[in-house]
Amino acid sequence: MTSESTALDLETAYSTVSDTYRGADLDIHALCREMRHTSPVFEGDFVAQFGVPTNAGMQAGTRPTFALFKYQDVMAVLRDGASYTNGFIAEGLGAFFDGLIILAMDGEQHRSVRALLQPAFMPETVNKWRDKIDRVIRKDFLEPMVTLKKADLMDFGLNFPIREMYALMGFPEDDTQTYRQYAAWALAMVGGNQIDPAKAPEARRQAGIAVKSLYDAILKVVIQRRAEGSESDDLIGRLLRAEHEGRQLDDHEVTTFVRSLLPAAGETTSRTFSSVISLLLSTPGLLDRIRADRSLIGKLIDETVRYEPVATFKVRETSRDVEIRGVQIPKGSFVQCMVVSANRDEDAFENPDNFDIDRKTKPSFGFGFGPHMCIGQFVAKVELNCAINAILDLFPNVRLDPSQPAPLITGAQLRGASKVAVIWD
Ligand code: HEM
Repeated sequence: MTSESTALDLETAYSTVSDTYRGADLDIHALCREMRHTSPVFEGDFVAQFGVPTNAGMQAGTRPTFALFKYQDVMAVLRDGASYTNGFIAEGLGAFFDGLIILAMDGEQHRSVRALLQPAFMPETVNKWRDKIDRVIRKDFLEPMVTLKKADLMDFGLNFPIREMYALMGFPEDDTQTYRQYAAWALAMVGGNQIDPAKAPEARRQAGIAVKSLYDAILKVVIQRRAEGSESDDLIGRLLRAEHEGRQLDDHEVTTFVRSLLPAAGETTSRTFSSVISLLLSTPGLLDRIRADRSLIGKLIDETVRYEPVATFKVRETSRDVEIRGVQIPKGSFVQCMVVSANRDEDAFENPDNFDIDRKTKPSFGFGFGPHMCIGQFVAKVELNCAINAILDLFPNVRLDPSQPAPLITGAQLRGASKVAVIWD
């Protein structure tokens, strides 16, 4: 590890990313509601007003841009990987991942890589990891906190998802310094996508260090594991053995994929945790219901992902001329799919602005939709489920701390609460 890279600590890296993606202090839900009614297919760069990066990097603003606000339109675009492609991400966000991320792949290349990776993330595999996930949450984080009787739950929320990924990948369980370093590097990669010209050079420098340091650290482990024969049930073992149509992943591919998983799995789960726990503790009557019936935690998570999706929009590029609701969209345009709007479309959800865990099950787009839908969603759901259960088990009568400000879910690009102050008996 170089002295440059160790200088980056987890809390600084997290707040840098939060600053980059929080954007202007506008009410995104109100703005989107207005657009659904007045301009459901908007010609222009809707997202620009928030001052947050899109995955298009420096290409943003260089070509015709449209924004979609309706459930049906967002679903149609996300599911059609032939007409709406992701390749442009390789030069935007992907530049901070050496261009090699599954999110930036299209068509046959994406299909074959996804088929290789998918089995390692299916519910039957992830359920086998549940005990390990639960043990990490309780032993490494929550049990040592019990006697404190008060905490900002984001001290836990910020740390546990990467710690989990680190454990699931099969890295040593007792090496807490290394996983914190990995977490900081993972965040520095996301933070490299900085659009403020004053901050961009330093953010990019840190991202460059992080990309290389993580690659070197993971490659060493991958080479060693392959040499040992890797019969293990953890993620790296499974990826080393994965096979689809006679093809296997080489060391470079396993390493780059594992590296891209850390940012994909860390911050998203931390922020979703912050929203799940905030809504659980602040929605009248909900805590008592969930305490009495833990089987409702699944619905709590699903409704949170609809109501406050972490990633508020997804961008695609048109690979041909298309028409949506009579609006002509030329080939090569950027299409901003406003997930945060589609998830609250009145034509798709009754009383969409109510947080209601009893609503009828229906797809929403907080984990995406179509070919790129989140491959790790079952991992995230098991982690969140274990975390909520453990908090209710270990912190008797846990509730919001009345002496502290109530948690606030904010952010124009990545939403979540930065602080969730609680007390217990
Ligand atoms: C609550 C936590 C999470 C949220 C909200 C979330 C959200 C998303 C979304 C919205 C996408 C689709 C991106 C697009 O269509 O452009 C996505 C893709 C992806 N996610 Fe997640 N994610 C979460 C956790 C995870 C975890 C735990 C992992 C890994 C274990 C993971 C790995 C991935 C990967 C690899 C992709 C790219 C899939 C592809 O391009 O085929 N995510 N995620």
